[in-house]
Amino acid sequence: MAAPVKTSQSNGSHTPTSELRLVTVPDFVAAKARGHRLTMLTAYDYTMARLLDAAGVDSLLVGDSLGMVIQGLPDALPVTLDEMVYHTRLVARGVRRALLVADLPFMTYQVSPQQALESAGRLVKEGGAHAVKLEGGLRSARAVEAVTAADIPLVGHIGLTPQSVRRLGGFKVQRDAGRLIEDALAVEAAGAFAIVVECVPAELAARVTETVKVPTIGIGAGPRCDGQVLVTPDILGLFEELRPRFVKQFADVGGVVRQAVESYCREVREGTFPGPEHSFR
Ligand code: KIV
Repeated sequence: MAAPVKTSQSNGSHTPTSELRLVTVPDFVAAKARGHRLTMLTAYDYTMARLLDAAGVDSLLVGDSLGMVIQGLPDALPVTLDEMVYHTRLVARGVRRALLVADLPFMTYQVSPQQALESAGRLVKEGGAHAVKLEGGLRSARAVEAVTAADIPLVGHIGLTPQSVRRLGGFKVQRDAGRLIEDALAVEAAGAFAIVVECVPAELAARVTETVKVPTIGIGAGPRCDGQVLVTPDILGLFEELRPRFVKQFADVGGVVRQAVESYCREVREGTFPGPEHSFR
């Protein structure tokens, strides 16, 4: 198993969580030069954040994908900033080591650079995020500039930007090479320290990765990005309603939950739970 990213204080080996130091923004950026592949996963609550952090993931993303996988919505457009602040706070309590990034939801940064800065400030001040993420390349450059000028570290997000689902007409692979490169350069120049590249052909993502100095984090963008991000309920088999091609299910936790609950219901109905060992005399 590859080691977690080297932090400024650690030697990058598998040390117990209690001895691990926080992954910082400079650690994240330096990982690209070191050729160290970054790992990022989404988290939305304390318990899962503890598990993922202890397992050594480099970064946790409180994604607005929570609209789908937590709130049961068809897309993330209705997710509010208050909801993002709330979930970020839950995750922040579970983080010991991972770099904590929180998404700016739809219409909390598009109105003006001032709005972007205020929204990002809430995720950091009230939520405890270490960094924020917002969608869009060239069109979001002024928002990126405003946020990063206030020393709030920011991750860009280009390619398929799910908040544009209405304009795009669905969650589709993005193939416009010129636009993608232009977007990557724009968010890098505006101050982003990393860029999520979603749903683009692998060759194109590799070109973006070679073009920019900051790390690229791919999702549905092939193996030649500097890191990968996936939605945790997808890789654990907890969210079964949508299975994009780029998702690999690493475990069937949904199946384990179903079996455990069936056993619990059977034992309660049969009267075998609770037994003497679970009861007080
Ligand atoms: O909202 C989210 O979870 C995301 C990732 C899929 C990159 O933006």
